[in-house]
Amino acid sequence: MKYRRLGQSDLHVSVIGIGTWQLGGEWGQTYSAEEVKAILEQASQCGINLLDTAECYGDHLSEELLGRAMAGHRDQWIVATKFGHHFNKPFDRDLRFDPSQVQQQLEASLRALQTEYIDLYQFHSGDDDIFETEGLWEMLERQKEAGKIRHLGISISSKLKDTFQVDKAAALGASAIQLVHNRLNPQSEAVFDSCIKQDLGILARVPLACGFLSGKYPQGTRFADDDVRQVWLTEELRNEQLAQVQTLHNEVPTDASMAQWALAWCLQHPAVTCVIPGCRGAEQVMANALAADLAMVRTDHPQAMASGETS
Ligand SMILES: NC(=O)c1ccc[n+]([C@@H]2O[C@H](COP(=O)([O-])OP(=O)(O)OC[C@H]3O[C@@H](n4cnc5c(N)ncnc54)[C@H](OP(=O)(O)O)[C@@H]3O)[C@@H](O)[C@H]2O)c1
Repeated sequence: MKYRRLGQSDLHVSVIGIGTWQLGGEWGQTYSAEEVKAILEQASQCGINLLDTAECYGDHLSEELLGRAMAGHRDQWIVATKFGHHFNKPFDRDLRFDPSQVQQQLEASLRALQTEYIDLYQFHSGDDDIFETEGLWEMLERQKEAGKIRHLGISISSKLKDTFQVDKAAALGASAIQLVHNRLNPQSEAVFDSCIKQDLGILARVPLACGFLSGKYPQGTRFADDDVRQVWLTEELRNEQLAQVQTLHNEVPTDASMAQWALAWCLQHPAVTCVIPGCRGAEQVMANALAADLAMVRTDHPQAMASGETS
């Protein structure tokens, strides 16, 4: 495994982390405590130390499953979670960004994760007005002082087209940005210079384009009725992305799977700290961890030193 410093923080995160939206039950599968334990054991054996979860992957369900699996080993993990949404039922959330509501969510996340602190607490996909909610960042600063939050992050909505939130991040005390970045969506690179200038880490989310960049899905694929790819992606968008993937097979080196190549592709930019692929189970964790061997920061890049990579 390789590790990179997360922005100006003292966290050295594995370049391959794990996204855990799947554990909330919206990806066509429910998870038992044993299955989650197996995922974390595999991750630990591979040197992975970063877990990304959220308040609304189930009603704190993903956090709860992680909390049980981490019990007794909390200090081995860097836990990133998020605030701002309330899970009502699968595929249905309310926004809750008022400081008192966020404070309640923080307490609920701490309880679910069975921890006294969150390593990275991220603003979760809010628009620019919500980002400026009165008293929000002051309240979060107080939680940092109280030791409940180690670092703040901003998970940028995929709908946002401006750089407002990224440009304000460091001034608000954030250490990292989370955004969609993958071989089908390279346009997120537009904010990378701002991140490097502010010394912000970047968590690249959806690095496999919802699994499409594994190359295993033909056009016309229909997912299970309780799989987010069937519920939230239109058939047109799915087929458009799957057609794009078909044109990329010639970029994949012969000694790697398409998924490993897609993860390594994200990590070649020195601004990217880590990728957080979601996983169905422990086998995918192992396969994805091997992408760290392929991942090379582009040394010809003017910001090549920015990654601060160690093995
Ligand atoms: N707003 C936000 O802040 C936000 C939004 C979205 C996601 N996220 C975070 O980012 C994480 C990652 O994004 P994502 O899970 O949406 O998409 P992703 O990482 O692009 O794709 C995950 C899916 O890819 C498939 N996969 C994973 N490894 C594979 C491998 N080695 N070979 C073949 N298939 C593989 C699995 O599905 P199948 O095997 O079923 O195909 C898995 O569920 C989430 O879990 C979450 O933590 C945050």
